[in-house]
Amino acid sequence: MLEVASENAINIENLLAAYEGESNAHAKYTAFAVKADADGWHGAASLFRAAGRAEQIHATNHARVIKQLGGEAKCEIHPVEVKSTLENLRAALAGEQYEVNTMYPDFIKAAGKNAAALRTFTWAMEAEKTHARLYAEVIALVGAGMKDSWAATARDFYVCAVCGYTSETEEEHERCPVCNLSWDKFEVIR
Ligand SMILES: [Fe+2]
Ligand SMILES: [Fe+2]
Repeated sequence: MLEVASENAINIENLLAAYEGESNAHAKYTAFAVKADADGWHGAASLFRAAGRAEQIHATNHARVIKQLGGEAKCEIHPVEVKSTLENLRAALAGEQYEVNTMYPDFIKAAGKNAAALRTFTWAMEAEKTHARLYAEVIALVGAGMKDSWAATARDFYVCAVCGYTSETEEEHERCPVCNLSWDKFEVIR
């Protein structure tokens, strides 16, 4: 019993940290999208909006588990520091890499046998990998000033409504490779 209680406490603490991270990432990406549009990088703006929607889905998933474990989902939203679109993209990539390489692996290790915590952390980590890949791709295009590339043109992204997995191609799979949601239930974000 004691073990479960302390496992719950650790999970609530980590879930709250992840909830805060995802909620602030959503706020950041929303502001970065506005700046990218103003800079003429409309494809990068679409990616910020898609990734931002995914972070919102992660925050909602984390909040659900926090409640299940008896906690209260609340966090502080910090003011967003908006720089050039290239710098904003680099900041976004750094955030995704931290989550993929450090934060979520640590939280998964600490989650013990709690299936709900394990699942929401794993789903978010897998989705962040898709964001890191797409941000790296668009950073190369924006960094090279490629105004004739997709980075400059608004485009659709496909976001899994359950786990936040984000793809740039339509019907890449029949089902979400992370959570198995059927592809027709993906959200199209532009
Ligand atoms: Fe992300
Ligand atoms: Fe999914």
